Amino acid sequence: MILRTERLVLSLPTVDDVDAIYDACQDAETQRYTTVPSPYERRHAEEFVPKVAADWRSGAHVTWAMREGSVLAGMIGLYRLDGTGSGELGYWVSPWSRRRGLLTEAARAVVDWGFASEGPGLHRIEWRAVVGNIGSARAARSLGFRYEGTLRGALVNPQGRDDGWIAGLLTTDDRMPQPWPVLQD
Ligand SMILES: CC(C)(COP(=O)(O)OP(=O)(O)OC[C@H]1O[C@@H](n2cnc3c(N)ncnc32)[C@H](O)[C@@H]1OP(=O)(O)O)[C@@H](O)C(=O)NCCC(=O)NCCS
Repeated sequence: MILRTERLVLSLPTVDDVDAIYDACQDAETQRYTTVPSPYERRHAEEFVPKVAADWRSGAHVTWAMREGSVLAGMIGLYRLDGTGSGELGYWVSPWSRRRGLLTEAARAVVDWGFASEGPGLHRIEWRAVVGNIGSARAARSLGFRYEGTLRGALVNPQGRDDGWIAGLLTTDDRMPQPWPVLQD
C-alpha cells in the first residue's frame, strides 16, 4: 500500500532503510517520546523491518516509511487496528527532516486512508503523547484532532511511565483545528 503526497512517498520500510532508521532513532526526543528501544541499537532497526511486514500481513498495525526522494524522512502508522473501528496514529520524523511540515503532510494522507472504505474504514483515530510533547500536540491540533484530556501514568516506554495527553478525530469531524487548552499558541 503506497500513499503519495505532494513531497512524500509513503511505503514499506526495507532492509535498505536500516542505516537511516538506526541513525534517526539515536535522537533523544524520539527515544523520550516514542516507544522505540533505548538505547537504540542497530539490531533494533534490523528487527523492525520484518516486524512491520508481519504486522501489515496480520492487519494489526500498519507502518509506512516517509520518503522525500531518497531521504528517509520518518515513520508513520496506524496502530492497534483491532477491528472495532478504532486505531491510533503514531509517528516520528527524522531529525534532519523536521520543522518543514512533512509530518502534517504525511499524516493527512494516513488519516484519509484510515477513514476510507478502501482502507480500514475507521470511525475514530486516537492520538496519545507524553505530556509536554508540544511539537506532536501542535501537529495533531493542525490535523483536526480534538484534545480530550490527560491520562495519568498511562504511557509506558523504555524511559519510564508518563502522564499522557489524549486526543481523537472522528470520521464525521471536520478537520478545522480546534483550541487545545494545553497549548498556549
Ligand atoms: C513531533 C514531530 C513528529 C514533528 O514533526 P515535524 O515534521 O517537525 O512537524 P511539522 O513540521 O509537520 O509541524 C507540525 C506542527 O508542530 C510544530 N512543531 C514541530 N516541532 C515542534 C517543536 N519542537 N516545538 C514546537 N512546535 C513544533 C510546528 O510548528 C507545526 O505547528 P503548526 O501546525 O501549529 O504550525 C517531530 O518533532 C518528532 O519526530 N519528534 C520526536 C518523536 C515524537 O515526538 N513523535 C510523536 C510521539 S506522540
